[in-house]
Amino acid sequence: KIDGIASDVALRPIAKVGVIGAGTMGGGITMNFLSAGIAVTIVEQAEDALNRGVGVIRKNYEASAAKGRLTTEQVETAMGLLTPSLSLDDLADCDLIIEAIFENMDVKKEVFGKLDAIAKPGAILASNTSYLNVDEIAASTSRPNDVVGMHFFSPANVMKLLEVVRGAKTADDVLATVMALAKKIKKVAVVAGVCHGFIGNRMLMPRQVEANKLLMEGATPEQIDRVHVEFGMPMGPFQMSDLAGVDIGWHRDPSRIESIRDALCAEDRWGQKKGAGFYDYDEKRNPTPS
Ligand code: NAI
Repeated sequence: KIDGIASDVALRPIAKVGVIGAGTMGGGITMNFLSAGIAVTIVEQAEDALNRGVGVIRKNYEASAAKGRLTTEQVETAMGLLTPSLSLDDLADCDLIIEAIFENMDVKKEVFGKLDAIAKPGAILASNTSYLNVDEIAASTSRPNDVVGMHFFSPANVMKLLEVVRGAKTADDVLATVMALAKKIKKVAVVAGVCHGFIGNRMLMPRQVEANKLLMEGATPEQIDRVHVEFGMPMGPFQMSDLAGVDIGWHRDPSRIESIRDALCAEDRWGQKKGAGFYDYDEKRNPTPS
């Protein structure tokens, strides 16, 4: 029984998934479904971003094959389930569509408005938003009961945790379907309510605030991260920022510098994806000595 939902609620069939955005998160999210044998159509807004995103998916699979975790045949089977596209119209036959585009309410609302016209009746519409109000996103459609948050953590093809954000109008069968699907793609799902940052990021936010204060007081990212790692955490706050993308939630206005984060973004230091963030990286995304 999940979060007050009857255990015999009929699940919606999920045979085909759509993912919008082939950036840091979209690619990893896509891999979870391909690896579980579920076909995915991935949509980007520009050809170079689409090619880059699909290239990263292939590279990740090939790296697993090189380590002996997958056969070449398994890599080709997974890649064979992937359909790259530049048009949201190609998502019309998807049972579940997960949006993983920029963290900006207006941009997300516009895409959900379009999905409302394109998605088939009964399709589940999910957002991978980190902080935004899922109810507000849902209200940009005529079917808020089909809308849910599916908040994956980076790297999305590796991290087990999935926060399933239940909106005020999310239907019981939508929540139950997503929880069952999470199991199928080998995630550990936790239901969260609508609030700023849900649970995981809410926990991490105060840590980041203190880390930023320490930075302003003269500590280096290396010192702060090193202490976290020696505490036994997999990485520190600045390593995590570089991995996730320093630009998440950035207002994208280089003339408005209100924090170290804004200053880094304005200088194109968006983290590992740009080869530099709080740290510099080589082409294999290893930090280079400073
Ligand atoms: P990203 O910037 O790496 O990728 C976003 C992609 O969406 C870009 O490739 C962009 O071209 C594409 N895009 C933008 N508008 C589009 C449209 N209208 N149609 C098709 N494609 C479009 O961003 P990232 O980091 O993958 O974040 C995506 C979402 O996931 C955000 O809402 C973010 O808050 C959330 N998220 C990010 C995490 C992270 O660690 N990076 C973790 C969990 C959630």
